Amino acid sequence: MDYRDKLKGYAEAVNRSLADEVSADNGEVSRAMRYSLLSGGKRTRASLVLAVCEMLGGDMDAALLAADAVEMLHCYSLIHDDLPCMDDDDYRRGQPSCHRQFGEATAMLAGDALLTNAFFTLSKIDDAEMSRSCARLLSEAAGFKGMILGQELDLRGVDTENDITGQLDRINRNKTGRLITASILMGAVCSGAGSGRTYEALERYGDGIGLVFQIVDDVLDVTSSLEELGKNTGSDADNNKVTYCSVYGAEGAMKRAAEVTNECIRALEDVENSGFLEWYAEELLNRKK
Ligand code: IPE
Ligand code: IPE
Ligand code: MG
Ligand code: MG
Ligand code: MG
Repeated sequence: MDYRDKLKGYAEAVNRSLADEVSADNGEVSRAMRYSLLSGGKRTRASLVLAVCEMLGGDMDAALLAADAVEMLHCYSLIHDDLPCMDDDDYRRGQPSCHRQFGEATAMLAGDALLTNAFFTLSKIDDAEMSRSCARLLSEAAGFKGMILGQELDLRGVDTENDITGQLDRINRNKTGRLITASILMGAVCSGAGSGRTYEALERYGDGIGLVFQIVDDVLDVTSSLEELGKNTGSDADNNKVTYCSVYGAEGAMKRAAEVTNECIRALEDVENSGFLEWYAEELLNRKK
């Protein structure tokens, strides 16, 4: 099967499964959760869970639950990231951001509910060891030493008197990279491959594409449009954020992103059946949204 069709299949599978996991009720918070969760999104993290599990011949039912969980958690992070006290952005996934549609209090609660529901979803994985390992990977990646730390550092900003690249790498790896690596490793765990050489190679691959993902996000914030991206552009400049793009220019940022992508692909040299992941690394580098 064509890799693009495969990717489409992963996104469709997770979209169906997410709709079941957060079934409708009349409450406003539940409506806000569905509004943000089921309104598109590339499903990059979910696709990585599913692709790695399929590559390793693992338990796809478990992987689908892990894919749902990481998309719920990611969606919570986007709802909170858009709040006025964070990036203060009005659009997300081609529609008014959650707080613009439902108000700040409901948006905050919808985010909280998605975060909580992510771990409820992981608890449904039949195999107790897989369930526990996924919960550990996701909570470590998303927590105060991972994504939350990244968001904290992002808000604090970069000290331009000191090693700027080092600071930017730390922000990007934490706020975005950690969740992407966790997605890949949950795919491995759902295949019973929670350690060893393949696991380590996948971790290196994930760390690389995670960094690239945020560099490209920062470039698109400058070079793309609301129509194309479905979210506000110019947000980083409006918030006076120092990014790879503001420091090295779009071209310089993309050059680094391409170098890191090549390293990611090399990390998979000894991993069998890694064709899709290699293709996907290039695809994420060259993405337009
Ligand atoms: C946006 O993530 C926020 C970042 C971590 C850069 P995505 O670009 O994956 O957003 P969706 O899920 O496709 O909407
Ligand atoms: C978001 O980074 C990272 C997280 C949500 C954890 P950005 O603030 O750059 O993401 P966008 O551009 O709003 O999607
Ligand atoms: Mg942000
Ligand atoms: Mg933002
Ligand atoms: Mg951004």
